[in-house]
Amino acid sequence: MRVVRYHEHGGPDVLQVDEMDRPTPASDEVLVEVRAASVNAVDARFRSGEYGNVSLPAIPGGDAAGVVAEVGERVEDFTAGDRVFAGGLGHGDGGTFAEYATIPEMKVAHLPESVSFEDGAALSNVGVTAWMAFVENAGLRPTEYCLVHGGNGGVGHAAVQLGTAMGANVLATAGSAELCERVRDLGAAAAFDYDSETLAEEIQEATDNEGVDVILDHRLDDYLGLDLTVAAQNGRVVTITGGIPAVTDTPLQAKELTIRGMAIANTSERQPILRRVARLMERGDLTAVVAETYDFEETGEAHRAVTGGGYVGKLIIHP
Ligand SMILES: NC(=O)c1ccc[n+]([C@@H]2O[C@H](COP(=O)([O-])OP(=O)(O)OC[C@H]3O[C@@H](n4cnc5c(N)ncnc54)[C@H](OP(=O)(O)O)[C@@H]3O)[C@@H](O)[C@H]2O)c1
Repeated sequence: MRVVRYHEHGGPDVLQVDEMDRPTPASDEVLVEVRAASVNAVDARFRSGEYGNVSLPAIPGGDAAGVVAEVGERVEDFTAGDRVFAGGLGHGDGGTFAEYATIPEMKVAHLPESVSFEDGAALSNVGVTAWMAFVENAGLRPTEYCLVHGGNGGVGHAAVQLGTAMGANVLATAGSAELCERVRDLGAAAAFDYDSETLAEEIQEATDNEGVDVILDHRLDDYLGLDLTVAAQNGRVVTITGGIPAVTDTPLQAKELTIRGMAIANTSERQPILRRVARLMERGDLTAVVAETYDFEETGEAHRAVTGGGYVGKLIIHP
């Protein structure tokens, strides 16, 4: 089978197409014939060597959608021919930029007939991330204000739609007026340019000065100060990337705020959340935006694009 691999860390050019033997699923694994996989920001960090613990050569890709080709002997819920999608795969799971990928059964769910392979791949990782942030970590409630930093990004575009479906008042940021407009089209009540010098005031005003109840932050190093400023009393900040910078004179205690880190890699049982994501997609509450599609030979280009940003939604790789 054809796979994308890198044999050494480096820039996007280290990605190449190789031939490998088709893998055999372990007893608790499903072998998926991959029809689409998406590019996640973290893929480029593993490739460059910024994140360690990668055994080389490595196949990138942490999500996929496709058709079950074979199942391990202990797998009960899937059979050859099923349409499926999978997300939240770690580097130990083997990578999905391959014609076939073995995936633990607990990270796979059935893909509704009405949802395309591209859309399933696009929303599996980021849909699970948004669900875990809002439902499991923040306990977002209807009518609350929530702020999604980078509402046009992969996670952001899923979070804007999920927050809207949950009945929250969604505010978001993006990198230009045009991207803000697109984020409002996804359901955000208001969207702001993240470079605005009056960002905090604009956000406060949009909440009628009540403050933001839930904040989904993907650049805590840059935005913790702003988060603490715009947070409402008892506000919850869920962070998916970045450390805690030195912030002085904070309203952390006075507002009784919670800052909570999360990582999808910590949840081994992803199937129940994927099933919820599937239901949201089937109902039309969560719709993937596919910004661009690439074939295996163009994976380097896709890695450059994910690092550059400036688009809405997800980049898709086709075998
Ligand atoms: N902890 C977890 O479980 C988890 C799960 C998934 C993802 N993540 C991490 O979360 C981050 C986002 O992932 P993703 O897949 O959504 O990435 P992505 O698709 O590349 O989106 C990145 C977003 O960040 C925005 N951005 C860029 N510069 C910004 C700035 N100065 N201020 C505010 N926003 C800015 C981008 O806007 P422009 O396009 O306008 O530049 C875009 O909206 C990544 O670091 C990823 O590794 C963590």
